[in-house]
Amino acid sequence: MKKSAMLIALTAAAALGQQASAVTVTIACGSVGQELQLCKDGAARWAKKTGNTVKVFESPNLTNDRLGLYQQQLAAKSSDIDVYQLDVVWPGLLAQHFVDLKGKVPAAEVNANFKAIIAADTVNGKLVAMPWFTDAGVLYYRTDLLKKYGYSAPPKTWAELAAMAKKIQDGEQKTNKAFAGYVFQGKNYEGLTCDALEWIASFGGGSIVDDSGKITINNPKAAAALNSAASWVGTISPKGVTTYDEEPARGIFQSGNAAFMRNWPYAWALGQGEDSKVKGNIGVSALPAGPGGQPAATLGGWQLGVSMYSKNQDAAIDLVRYLTGPAEQKIRAIEGSYNPTIASLYQDKDILKANPFFGSLLNVFTNAVARPSGPTKDKYNQVSQAFSTAVSDVLNKKMSGGAAVAQLSANLARIKGRGW
Ligand code: GLC
Repeated sequence: MKKSAMLIALTAAAALGQQASAVTVTIACGSVGQELQLCKDGAARWAKKTGNTVKVFESPNLTNDRLGLYQQQLAAKSSDIDVYQLDVVWPGLLAQHFVDLKGKVPAAEVNANFKAIIAADTVNGKLVAMPWFTDAGVLYYRTDLLKKYGYSAPPKTWAELAAMAKKIQDGEQKTNKAFAGYVFQGKNYEGLTCDALEWIASFGGGSIVDDSGKITINNPKAAAALNSAASWVGTISPKGVTTYDEEPARGIFQSGNAAFMRNWPYAWALGQGEDSKVKGNIGVSALPAGPGGQPAATLGGWQLGVSMYSKNQDAAIDLVRYLTGPAEQKIRAIEGSYNPTIASLYQDKDILKANPFFGSLLNVFTNAVARPSGPTKDKYNQVSQAFSTAVSDVLNKKMSGGAAVAQLSANLARIKGRGW
């Protein structure tokens, strides 16, 4: 055989070899804001690099709905989804269904991430998932409106926020009836757990259940925090706020109909987008503090884990390593303002240019308050649902803050009685 013919044959064999080992991996991604598109883009880059195929499974927006769906898939030991996007509060609930990534992902890659997130993703020594992006609640405000109404800085306390929101709302409503002072996540779901934990922690009222597993919610500061939030509903916030999750709140703020919004960092990139009515007029600060308290941001964020029932675990792990690696986290930070979990990326000039608040609020991201998913383990979802239901009752004026935290404390004790 001539040399050139031999080369061609070898290349063809190599191509065939690659063909034979190429697999299809399915990843379940969220779809809040730009989540789905960015997931598809990243997955496509991996597919191109490896010759494998990726299918992206679109998950519901609400984290509660996602959890329900995933629990069904996992309980049925379904191999349909190889890689799952997991909320930071889920590892304790779902650990048994995921491959231990310890040893499968090089230690240097694991250790490049914030320690607290790796700790949250580790259950009884098992690394359930790799961090993909982190989240913390922040306050968005309209820089143009603050100026217009004579304010030189965003509010430092909830009382200041209420006063500023009222003044701006009263002024703007003269020409825009739909204008709201403050929008947040008031619907009864996991997002309300996040918002309400911020109010309570910033009043010095603790974090529902402490690290040792003790129920701490029944205290006057927690009650006062809930009463203060209830006083916003129908005054500085529309009554409908008790039905809002992240996206409705963002929609109102981004269309120019709110002075302040509590949301996660993803709302920044969208708010600065070409089709945003408030582009160039958005400020981001830490959330306000309660009386005598400190600002508090709830720790959120998402991880990627490989299902034990996946038939393509090696390729799935490779996809997880690729998507959670620094190059992909950088792209997602710049295009979608998703906070990296890799500490060194907070020094990256391009990332800081696209998201100046990643630098100015670094302490907010590194000191965020965890929901009690660690101490309550596989009971976390019940705890969170009991909590958000109690908060929702207060927001809907069915109960006072004091009565709600007392009743909640008794409910939590019953859940704890079944073991956590
Ligand atoms: C964000 C957070 C997540 C949280 C959810 C609540 O997606 O990253 O941790 O559970 O919001 O809606």
